[in-house]
Amino acid sequence: MGTERGPGKPAGNETGRRTGNERKSRVKFFVDTAEVDEIRELAATGLVDGVTTNPSLVAKSGRDFLEVLREICELVPGPVSAEVTATEAEAMIAEGRHLAAIAPNVAIKVPLTWDGLKACRALSDEGTTVNVTLCFSAAQALLAAKAGASFVSPFVGRLDDIGQDGMKLIEDIRLIYDNYPDTLETEILVASVRHPMHVVEAARLGADVATVPPKVLRQLAHHPLTDKGLDAFLADWRKTGQTIVGG
Ligand code: E4P
Repeated sequence: MGTERGPGKPAGNETGRRTGNERKSRVKFFVDTAEVDEIRELAATGLVDGVTTNPSLVAKSGRDFLEVLREICELVPGPVSAEVTATEAEAMIAEGRHLAAIAPNVAIKVPLTWDGLKACRALSDEGTTVNVTLCFSAAQALLAAKAGASFVSPFVGRLDDIGQDGMKLIEDIRLIYDNYPDTLETEILVASVRHPMHVVEAARLGADVATVPPKVLRQLAHHPLTDKGLDAFLADWRKTGQTIVGG
């Protein structure tokens, strides 16, 4: 999952479009939760590159937002998305600055509204990582990139919920961004992930990041044939009476 873009990187083929072979892969998984214990446990696997939270997830945790944010930022080195709750640009910027001061790895989440885009531009210009959230169309994703967002979060599950094709949106955004690899450097962060196939499809389409609920992250590792195969191997091993260490 992912594309290494930036200054000095090859600009694509003669059509200007970057091909799959020209990409350097950079798979990133973020965990979509505000539950610190879950994050601690999953971060220990070394598979977690960042965290996303939102006001609903914070409410569900029942804890103080700033305290939770501080704790999460110490657990993972990568970006931790913290969402503003103001709706006007100036107030969003003030909240964004306040949240960004908590730790260097805070990413400020702003909603995909006109005010959110204005705040995105201002905060990005100050060097703050911005994640533009609640993206439901390619047009919105184009605006987020133009506004200097580090991440755009298309919500695939919520689109599926209303009978639209969430993954088609990822495909469209990937195509659009790859048409302008030297100027649109926003990373596609697939959000509202409901099941492992969303993650697989995100990777197939070259999304940069998938933010995954803890349950779905754990599901990714499971396959009934793995469990069955392991049981059989261990049963046969016990029959040998051997041990690998300390035998
Ligand atoms: C992303 O940053 C959001 O927190 C999240 O993915 C929303 O997912 P939901 O549609 O399951 O609430």
